[in-house]
Amino acid sequence: MSTSNVRSIKKDGALPPFEDALTLPGKLYWDQAVFNAEKEAIFSSMWLCIGRCEDIEDPGSYFTWQQDNERILIVRGKDKKIRAFFNVCRHRGSRLVEEESGCGLNRITCPYHAWTYASDGRLVSAPTMGDDFDKNDFPLVEAPCDTYGGFIFINLDENAEPLESFLSDLPDLSRYQLPELRRAARVEYVVDANWKLICENYNECYHCALVHPQLHRISDANSGGKMERGRCFSGGSMHLNDGFSTMTMSGHSDHPVIPGLSEEDHRTVQYYTIYPNLLISPHPDYLLTHTIWPIGPGKTRIVCEWFFTQEAVNQPGFDPSDAVEFWDVTNKQDWGLCVRAQRGAESRGYRPGKYHPHESAVWAFDDWYRDFMEL
Ligand code: FES
Ligand SMILES: [Fe+2]
Repeated sequence: MSTSNVRSIKKDGALPPFEDALTLPGKLYWDQAVFNAEKEAIFSSMWLCIGRCEDIEDPGSYFTWQQDNERILIVRGKDKKIRAFFNVCRHRGSRLVEEESGCGLNRITCPYHAWTYASDGRLVSAPTMGDDFDKNDFPLVEAPCDTYGGFIFINLDENAEPLESFLSDLPDLSRYQLPELRRAARVEYVVDANWKLICENYNECYHCALVHPQLHRISDANSGGKMERGRCFSGGSMHLNDGFSTMTMSGHSDHPVIPGLSEEDHRTVQYYTIYPNLLISPHPDYLLTHTIWPIGPGKTRIVCEWFFTQEAVNQPGFDPSDAVEFWDVTNKQDWGLCVRAQRGAESRGYRPGKYHPHESAVWAFDDWYRDFMEL
């Protein structure tokens, strides 16, 4: 990605411009105190993509999402609205729901003393609490929850700005019909590298010709368009080489393209990091996402998912494996790089380095990070 479209989002110019910037100090990749600060400032106060609306289509269907000791309950109410609740009883604080997912949760009954909540969070029963007890005073505590493109986002900060406002400068991806797409595959990885190394690696293709022969054959490492950045994202696009129609092992697709895309879109794959941890990559015929979950300073869980059109998924004999294998191969090549980078960052000999011109989106991510963490 070139630097020609780099638009500074700094008001005071406090951080160095791309040309003068160096990569992050090594300590930011391995220090436990830094990690703890990130968990608080970023992963407990920013919008996080935690699932899909398609997973809880019926009223009463639910799943829980865990980060450290917090387990959030996400449930679709009778009114079809999706809400997120801190999974904590308002009586004496028992955890309410331990299951990872399920259906029929129209009443949430605490296993301790049977206080019972409706799926919209209202306390509807509190046995023998007496007439002067007002149930309206003790609803479940909600966490901000909203959707974008069929994805469910939550924020652990009760005072978070609305998701719509946070995402307001994200490029318009509505032509990809994201809410209509359906998950066809999911692969989880645990990688011995800091979560920022995963994001940084996603944001550049300087390494692609060397490390990703399968990818480079289909989408030239130098085919990147202009780098784009905003308050909530950085990224850009790459083009498919002539003779190829999508990113699969074969370079071709048996599946219908997403309807309504332009000729340009048929030749393009978009790669955006939505801060802090959603990597969203629309292809002509499918959507690839990675969600990045820090486990420790040097360990990260990555959930990779593939979404196709409903028409494709409904086709008899539908088989996404050509796309899944392509990105599984590419992912594993990337994780190997990230582990090496982690080992380097942990060395006493590590020094911040110089960004290549094709790494402007890495710089944009690092710049956002420094700015957000006030480093
Ligand atoms: S702690 Fe839930 S009913 Fe007592
Ligand atoms: Fe890569």
